[in-house]
Amino acid sequence: MAAPTSKALTTRKQFDDAVERALGAASAYYDSAELRMTDFEYDTLIEQIEGAAAQHSDWDTRGVLDEVAAGASTGGEVTHPVPMLSLGKVKTLDDVREFVGRVGQLVAVEPKLDGLAVRAEYNKGLLVLIATRGDGTTGEDVTARASEIRGLPTKLKKQLTLEVRGEVYMTDTDFDAANDNRVHTGKSAFVNSRNAVAGSLRNSDRNYDTPMSFASYDASGPALEKTSSYTERMNLLNSWGIGAARALVVGVSDLAPTDDADEVVRRIETLGDRRAGLGFPIDGAVVKTDAIDGRDVIGTVSRTPKWAAAYKYAADTATTVLRDIEIAVGRTGRISLRAVLDPVFVGGTTVTYATLHNPAFVHDADFRIGDTVYVYRAGDVIPRVNAVDRSKRPKSAKVWEAPSTCPNCGGEWNKSSVLWRCSSPECSLTSWIDFALSRDVLDVEGASVSFSEAVVDAGLVNDLADLFTLTVDQVAALPAGDDREIGAKNATKIVSGIERAKGQPLARQITSWNIRMVGRTIGRRLAAHFGTLDALRSASETDLADVEGIGVEKARMIYAGLRDRSPMIDRLVALGIETGTAIETSPVAADLPLAGKKVVVTGAVPGLTRTEAQEAVERLGGQSSGSVSSATDLVVIGEGAGSKAEKATQLGIPTMTAEDFARLLAGATEGDG
Ligand code: IVH
Repeated sequence: MAAPTSKALTTRKQFDDAVERALGAASAYYDSAELRMTDFEYDTLIEQIEGAAAQHSDWDTRGVLDEVAAGASTGGEVTHPVPMLSLGKVKTLDDVREFVGRVGQLVAVEPKLDGLAVRAEYNKGLLVLIATRGDGTTGEDVTARASEIRGLPTKLKKQLTLEVRGEVYMTDTDFDAANDNRVHTGKSAFVNSRNAVAGSLRNSDRNYDTPMSFASYDASGPALEKTSSYTERMNLLNSWGIGAARALVVGVSDLAPTDDADEVVRRIETLGDRRAGLGFPIDGAVVKTDAIDGRDVIGTVSRTPKWAAAYKYAADTATTVLRDIEIAVGRTGRISLRAVLDPVFVGGTTVTYATLHNPAFVHDADFRIGDTVYVYRAGDVIPRVNAVDRSKRPKSAKVWEAPSTCPNCGGEWNKSSVLWRCSSPECSLTSWIDFALSRDVLDVEGASVSFSEAVVDAGLVNDLADLFTLTVDQVAALPAGDDREIGAKNATKIVSGIERAKGQPLARQITSWNIRMVGRTIGRRLAAHFGTLDALRSASETDLADVEGIGVEKARMIYAGLRDRSPMIDRLVALGIETGTAIETSPVAADLPLAGKKVVVTGAVPGLTRTEAQEAVERLGGQSSGSVSSATDLVVIGEGAGSKAEKATQLGIPTMTAEDFARLLAGATEGDG
């Protein structure tokens, strides 16, 4: 559907076409949550229609205008005992002053929530009905959605009988989750949060919950009869666990009502300034008189109360052309997508870049370069591209492919979450921490990858040393995935696991530092060769090059890596990590059972992991190796051994069973003590 032009509607044909477009858009919106034009486009179209009707008294437009004004929602099966009204607009701040002067009473300033109006009934404390506004006279029964709506409890503590009116809306976080769910089921994304509420309230054929929120802006019933002001009513409601719009913006909407026009304007401006950081969508401010009696005095004209008015902020949704999609991989290793747009004015600023969720979203929603897209900038500082208008797709539109590997380092993507992460610990702090905590390195039980993500995301861990400073309280409050926190019990387990990790052998400490070229094997060889951390840190490049498997080239990188990590290693030492023991003089070392032998362990050694078995070889004076060759001195054969055992037999290399190896180890350890 084409956007309305600013041209006046001069012929009856143009007028009729415009009416048809408006009605079509409104019914698509209300009845199938489909957005055919932005709010701004819709409002402009309505203004054109009304303007043309006013200019052409010769056209019979009365019925048509009523239809357009009703918004063409088809209503529903529930009849509202008192119609659900709509608000008149005040266009400028001067009009706001004029409004305050005209009503001459105390007024409250509230956020105008951008969701869907509903009416709820409580009977003796039980929630018995939720109905949408519909056409104002009748609406749809959406009581089935009650469990998904926060702020509208299904049972009150007191047995109250009430009617509550208010807005169902979605927080920014809930909106993102709703969109991800929606796109994953193959449907197109919701354009904005209001659209998402409309879609989610009525769509019952889904098997997941869509959390929404409710905030009231009107209430009546026997329990409230004693109250004489709106403020009192809403505070009472809030104390019963029902959300209230006036409670949502602390320092603005919860202030005492005032009749000072300048103060009202100040509140509206403050609310506008804070709009971006609220975490939920508002499209304006509502000014309303506070005294309930005073409202009757002022009255209501054709479904619009004269005691309240809406001041609208800049529109939050606009359309523009998607020119490119750029990707970046941040320090946490996570991929982020940025839409490059033709500049567009939305939410009060000109936007040229916007967030584009994740690669799966781009793929599933089928965004193409050249497409016209909906940009949303509301309760969030970062504008986002949420949906595409396929009807405007040019032939030249190009499909976008996500890069197959990390553009920083060429690493593989870890695709376990929709926000892919580079799996290389060199590129990603999260991957590094995850690697350091893993079983074969520091072996911290209970610390999964989501823990690594959480500590990095929370900014608690900026390098490995920070890990050892975490407190139980800090860890307990971190998200564990879903909506839950890690909690005190698991946090205690993780933090004591980290404390224990300080005592892991030097080889594992070295490996955990994530120095280029230093994996588990080289970590072990460095520890075995130098014995202590001090000896390792004072080694020259030449000293390093002497270590088995490290040539000149690797020695250079390891030397540089150790220098690079120096401040972190200093902190780790100060925090008490294992720093090794000096290598005994060679006669004693030569006494060790596997002294000087190249040993391959294949198959399982009871009670030991692969890494532990390799560490044991080194503790016994041997050099652990992964492959059997004529240079191998001994092969330890455990259960499940395969080709390596066969090769040992072929080459006539001495072998030992895993049991004998375990016994040898036990003997040597006893001797140590
Ligand atoms: S007072 C007229 N207060 O705005 C009935 N309305 O265009 C009393 N809205 O249908 C409305 N936030 O859905 C009021 N804090 C607020 C509001 C609010 C959003 C909506 C409501 C109404 C529409 C009027």
